[in-house]
Amino acid sequence: MHSLSARSTPDPAPSAAAPVIRTRALRREYALGSALVLALQGVDLEIEPGEFVAIMGPSGSGKSTLMNILGCLDPPTSGDYWLSGTAVSSLDDAQLAHIRNREIGFVFQTFHLLPRSTALRNVEVPLMYAGVRTRERRARATEALERLGLSDRMHHLPGQLSGGQRQRVAIARALVTEPSLVLADEPTGNLDSQTSDEILELFESLHARGETIVLVTHEHEVAARARRRIDMRDGRIERDVRQPQEPRR
Ligand SMILES: Nc1ncnc2c1ncn2[C@@H]1O[C@H](COP(=O)(O)OP(=O)(O)OP(=O)(O)O)[C@@H](O)[C@H]1O
Ligand SMILES: [Mg+2]
Repeated sequence: MHSLSARSTPDPAPSAAAPVIRTRALRREYALGSALVLALQGVDLEIEPGEFVAIMGPSGSGKSTLMNILGCLDPPTSGDYWLSGTAVSSLDDAQLAHIRNREIGFVFQTFHLLPRSTALRNVEVPLMYAGVRTRERRARATEALERLGLSDRMHHLPGQLSGGQRQRVAIARALVTEPSLVLADEPTGNLDSQTSDEILELFESLHARGETIVLVTHEHEVAARARRRIDMRDGRIERDVRQPQEPRR
């Protein structure tokens, strides 16, 4: 028996020093009619507190599938995931909901804003789920929008905002609960280069404040801003490098 593999390591105990993310042999299969899609085929990943990680890879390589699992939005078919030292599979629905609401800020490529609610209201939603009272909720949502330069757009509906403004509302919503982990699936995918630069600067300032950030992107300039780059292919991590910082243009 070869017993010196990572698989023989006992489960880590929760501790302050635990990685924010640790996965082992993560697999995700989708049944599509009689066919089986192997979206993730064994992902082992550790991300330490305060890291800024970019995930790249061709379309269909499993990036969103991985992000959805890391965000506790979707369970793996098999394998293990520890979030800050806690085995996610051991959590019940209420605990999962709590983590999704308080610990993780998820930014989707397609924003997922409520179309009939103002920017302010959209940002308040996670605080409502977290049981924060009206007055504090309003104050915190207002502050989050102000930080993102949207003071004069609070009462606009998503349809009355530009793509970049909508994405900033979505980011304000992801950050308003002050999550310890920010997951962003192509947050600049729909934006022009200037707006995308602004969004990136925002992620950099979050990183400077010590946030842990995992960001999926197709753009090399975006990935170059992160401190670590992971390349996926066919549901696996093909390459994982910590990189020196490129000078800003
Ligand atoms: N709900 C689903 N049912 C069946 N197959 C799925 C489902 N979701 C994703 N897949 C398949 O799993 C694979 C990985 O998809 P995923 O969305 O993770 O790719 P991705 O790397 O995010 O791609 P993109 O860069 O285009 O966003 C793809 O082959 C996709 O077709
Ligand atoms: Mg995707």
